[in-house]
Amino acid sequence: MELFKTQTQFIKNTIEEYQFKQDPYNLYDPLNYILKLGGKHIRPILALSAFELFSDDLDKIKKPAIALEWFHNFTLIHDDIMDDASLRRGNETVHTKWDVNTAILSGDALMIKSYELFEDLEPSLFKKCIQLFTKTAIEVCEGQQYDVDFETRDDVTLHDYIEMITLKTAVLIATSLKIGAMIGKASDEDAENLYQFGKYLGIAFQIQDDYLDIYGDMEKVGKRHAGDIYENKKTILYLKALEKGNAQQKERLLTLYASTSQKVEKVDEVIQLFEALQIPEETLNESYRYQKLALEHLSKVTTLKSKEKLVYLSEYLIKRDL
Ligand code: IPE
Ligand code: IPE
Ligand code: MG
Ligand code: MG
Ligand code: MG
Repeated sequence: MELFKTQTQFIKNTIEEYQFKQDPYNLYDPLNYILKLGGKHIRPILALSAFELFSDDLDKIKKPAIALEWFHNFTLIHDDIMDDASLRRGNETVHTKWDVNTAILSGDALMIKSYELFEDLEPSLFKKCIQLFTKTAIEVCEGQQYDVDFETRDDVTLHDYIEMITLKTAVLIATSLKIGAMIGKASDEDAENLYQFGKYLGIAFQIQDDYLDIYGDMEKVGKRHAGDIYENKKTILYLKALEKGNAQQKERLLTLYASTSQKVEKVDEVIQLFEALQIPEETLNESYRYQKLALEHLSKVTTLKSKEKLVYLSEYLIKRDL
């Protein structure tokens, strides 16, 4: 992402600046570990980009932007326990490298610490940001619970799925943009349009994440190939296949997803089924459709500055290969 090199470097430097140096070592070391593994930093990049539509003094957005990244990393630490994932960003997950108890408590600590990074905001802005951040945090928990509940349900609809990914993924992306806008002193209307832009972009982003679970280059994605199939996740690919398949294909899918088998043969058969039904192509089209919806909201944002960077970012996020 050439266009975002400066921003990415700024974020990396700030993460480093706020590295944890205190004791107990066993609580904070896992946090420095996961934060150092990098990732795309899209949430702070979105916050910075939204802020820059209205204001120039980057110092004001610096710490809140890192709060979004810290919160996101907290969700990943716990998500990897819940999804039984041993690989993240090409490295061992926290609960694999340490243990589950460490991952729970270190994750909790990171989530709590993320709130501190809003402290420097003036009182009225502080209140607005914390209210939104807290609302979003609980929504992510709700989304994560639905995601887990869906693993053992066979009646999940595409509508349920969109609601679930809106909660687990899209609202934090939306909030990153809105917090950037609010701290940049955007009008309420502009801040809300940026939230909506982020919400639809976040939906497109999670659809792409589901796609990459199977079709991403594992070297780049840094997660286990087809982890979602092993875990019987009700991804968009699965739900579309159930919708399109004939009676026999449907029954086979339901049977495969009723088993907790960790055999690669299960994955191969599921992928063959998806491909016979042209599900990969349809999945990408869905992602494009939500990106377009996102852009409709971005176009309503009133600013004299260029919105090109955000348009570009929305394209990158659905064409990404990691
Ligand atoms: C992964 O998020 C979890 C999802 C919400 C899909 P990212 O794809 O943003 O992960 P990193 O931070 O770049 O590793
Ligand atoms: C993650 O969804 C959502 C959150 C972390 C809140 P996934 O479970 O699909 O994310 P990955 O694929 O493990 O990164
Ligand atoms: Mg998950
Ligand atoms: Mg996961
Ligand atoms: Mg995923």
